[in-house]
Amino acid sequence: MSATTPERRLTVSDLTRMYRDGQTIPMITAYDFPTAQLVDEAGIPAILVGDSLGEVMLGYESTVRVSLDEMLHHTKAVVRGTKRALIVGDMPFLTYATEDEALENAARFMRDAGTGAVKVEGGVRSARIIETLVKAGIPVMGHIGWTPQAKYGMGGKTGVQGKDREQARRQLADAFAVQEAGAFAIVLELMPQQLAAAITERLRIPTIGIGAGPDCSGQIQVVTDILGLGSFIPRHARPYIRLREQIGQALGAYAADVVAGTYPGPEQTSRMDEAILAEALGQGQADQAPTDELVGIPLDRDL
Ligand code: KIV
Repeated sequence: MSATTPERRLTVSDLTRMYRDGQTIPMITAYDFPTAQLVDEAGIPAILVGDSLGEVMLGYESTVRVSLDEMLHHTKAVVRGTKRALIVGDMPFLTYATEDEALENAARFMRDAGTGAVKVEGGVRSARIIETLVKAGIPVMGHIGWTPQAKYGMGGKTGVQGKDREQARRQLADAFAVQEAGAFAIVLELMPQQLAAAITERLRIPTIGIGAGPDCSGQIQVVTDILGLGSFIPRHARPYIRLREQIGQALGAYAADVVAGTYPGPEQTSRMDEAILAEALGQGQADQAPTDELVGIPLDRDL
């Protein structure tokens, strides 16, 4: 981008262009304003406000518990924190069970929260819904392999999908169904490297892998895993920094300084003219208690 080109929000067409140009697409999740700002400043072209929000930010035991309102609340913060990244809103469990529900709830992501696309889980089983959304002008990202919203339906245990012949065939059929329904990209989650590579080779839309090896058209990770902030980091994630330890040390140091009386210090404290204080407290009576008139004067945060 030249210095004179105004910054603009990327769209799914930009992701398609990157894919056609052979650029590998980095994506990451974000759930709040400051993290979204950092991701945008790092130049990552697309953010998923994933329903992993439920587990990593809200403390639920699964994504199934996340509500549409919770997703929208966080998605709006991510949109406000970014100028350039394409924002994809993850439609939570049972918000796209029928075509009408899918349209109404996808509209809340696009119209009310300001996303540029939505993501839905499921291959063949979601193809009709994807087609309906795409026909209505809503760009859709698909998601196959391990689909966390189907956790309980899939036996409750997280695991790599597609290792045996039947499963591999099913994943291939799912990938084609999502593509033919009109999705602009597809997440492949927890899949053997060779199967993800074979799907990537056969599709004409980008595959975005998570735990699916290096041969996908792009990669996505949960931001708290990459930053080393989570209490559990999955095998497929590489923590580029150990924020959990660093934040723990910083918080411990803060508490110790408060207890020792070394925080706040002179640099964090403002002072006033003693004479003015004496006047304010009643001339010549600085040692007296404040009069009733002084009670309730609001403190200015910038003091
Ligand atoms: O919710 C999420 O974060 C996701 C990614 C893991 C793809 O769906």
